[in-house]
Amino acid sequence: MNKAVAPAQIHTEGVINPKAEVRNFSFYYGAKQALKDINLQVETDAVTALIGPSGCGKSTLLRCFNRMHDLYPDNRYEGEILLKPDNINIVSSRVDPIEMRMRIGMVFQKPNPFPKSIYENIAYGLRIRGENRKKVLDEKVEQALRNAALWEEVKNRLKESGTSLSGGQQQRLCIARALATDPEIILFDEPTSALDPIATASIEDLVSELKGKVTIIIVTHNMQQAARVSQNTVFMYLGEIIEAAPTEQLFTNPKQQKTQDYITGRFG
Ligand SMILES: Nc1ncnc2c1ncn2[C@@H]1O[C@H](COP(=O)(O)OP(=O)(O)OP(=O)(O)O)[C@@H](O)[C@H]1O
Ligand SMILES: [Mg+2]
Repeated sequence: MNKAVAPAQIHTEGVINPKAEVRNFSFYYGAKQALKDINLQVETDAVTALIGPSGCGKSTLLRCFNRMHDLYPDNRYEGEILLKPDNINIVSSRVDPIEMRMRIGMVFQKPNPFPKSIYENIAYGLRIRGENRKKVLDEKVEQALRNAALWEEVKNRLKESGTSLSGGQQQRLCIARALATDPEIILFDEPTSALDPIATASIEDLVSELKGKVTIIIVTHNMQQAARVSQNTVFMYLGEIIEAAPTEQLFTNPKQQKTQDYITGRFG
């Protein structure tokens, strides 16, 4: 059973208008508990960074937000992740994971365009939603590519395969694909770790530009990246949240010793 907690008891510094609220949340891979009693709010239309040493549970937490763990029967969620403003519990077995994945998009570490044309990579999700009008698809494809800062580079080659693009372009295509269905949240799991510095900079610019338009949660190993792109940062350690605060505060004036040790490079 979920432990009932009054909303007022959960407060994350720097969060004024939460888009999601994680309450008394734990996660298990079979018998192994990977997340322990997570309580967290995620600010609407801002960028929230998840940082922490390898194995601390960043990817595990991120994947709970769009029910990626449902693919394995031994995985178990406990507690709630409420999507605001309607307070849907994302991890409830009564909530359809397919619908959640439409509302909460994901961009992975390695760019993974479909083996389809650039155009179809983006139109695909819209077609699944029942949109087949060519004019609407054309408009939405262009808009998504513009929002992902890729339109100018690909507007004359929309019929070419998505896999013919460079790594950085492929990642922007994956971001465009995620944006096309107007998601409420986009999850990024180390989206630049397979990219060169120039492609990394363009993805970081893009994430910064999306701030104000969509709620973003980004896992990164790179503390400079967290500092550059995020408004709020969450530091995790051994499956727990140690500290969640406005990014500048967390990096310049952390309240917890463990956070201090991590950001000064004493472990991890
Ligand atoms: N499929 C799985 N089955 C069992 N345990 C797993 C599985 N995936 C991850 N874990 C364990 O859960 C814990 C958290 O892993 P997770 O991948 O979330 O860490 P992370 O913070 O994303 O690490 P990294 O920075 O290396 O990507 C680790 O102890 C890991 O070994
Ligand atoms: Mg990870």
